[in-house]
Amino acid sequence: MTEDALLEVDGLVVDYPVAHGVFRAVDDVSFTVRRGGTLAIVGESGCGKSTIARSIVRLVKPTAGRIVVGGTDIARLSEKQLRPMRTRVQMIFQDPYGSLDPHLSAQEIVAEPLRVRGMRDKRARAKEAATLIDQVGLPATALERRPPEFSGGQRQRIGIARALASKPDLLVCDEATSALDVSVQAQVLALLMKIQAETGLTYVVISHNLGVVREISEEIIVMSEGRLVESGPTRKVLAAPDHPYTRALRRAALDPTAIHGRKPRELVAPSAMRLPAAPVQRGTDR
Ligand SMILES: Nc1ncnc2c1ncn2[C@@H]1O[C@H](COP(=O)(O)OP(=O)(O)O)[C@@H](O)[C@H]1O
Ligand SMILES: [Mg+2]
Repeated sequence: MTEDALLEVDGLVVDYPVAHGVFRAVDDVSFTVRRGGTLAIVGESGCGKSTIARSIVRLVKPTAGRIVVGGTDIARLSEKQLRPMRTRVQMIFQDPYGSLDPHLSAQEIVAEPLRVRGMRDKRARAKEAATLIDQVGLPATALERRPPEFSGGQRQRIGIARALASKPDLLVCDEATSALDVSVQAQVLALLMKIQAETGLTYVVISHNLGVVREISEEIIVMSEGRLVESGPTRKVLAAPDHPYTRALRRAALDPTAIHGRKPRELVAPSAMRLPAAPVQRGTDR
């Protein structure tokens, strides 16, 4: 493992039990993410992206392979052994509506991980929660409000503040901005990048939006049917994709009508709005 790699995933295999045996959702996937860097995972629906994310935060136990976070292989650890590692890797989910307790105030939601982290003094927790709420760009008036009173983008900010409260080394964002309007997506992305610049947090970002990926990540892996089919620097891979699948993905992203069932505006990323679109490749590749 290289000196500055925070996350090393090596030969990851995940099988899900199904009616007649197992279904291999992730098949021998390896990648590393440097400390303070951002890796993007892209690929069609069902290719295993969320399974990789859930493995990294150990919501699923891998069938084989290593997941080394800051020098510790967490792939096979028991629940008890995992406990001290749990705070170090946090996840932001797509659905800000489902992931926050509607009965708690924003301050209580953000203060809870502080308690878990061992901050005993209630006033100290409230103060730290207020700092975190401020860090994610919400006003002080947000502290006493409950999730149903916030917009989707504001709820996602609360989710980010809650994740930050654990002082993680690694944040896994699984389609974290996909449910949001395009302008709100851009704001949440800008926030994630600001936080990374301030804290040196490492990101794994899953998105079907190549504009988002281009904006936020320097390294990318492309998945298809559980396997890694292409990887490398994001700009290089997206500018000159080697694999037919990556070419098809890129073509689809440049032509919103090519993706069935998605409104074009959901495909327009912040960078795509500013940069002229790259020429659409028309070749014989699928
Ligand atoms: N708990 C499960 N049991 C059985 N199959 C699953 C389970 N979770 C996901 N899968 C299957 O594994 C594959 C990968 O799923 P997932 O990782 O969610 O893909 P993605 O996030 O790329 O859309 C899909 O075919 C999905 O149907
Ligand atoms: Mg998914």
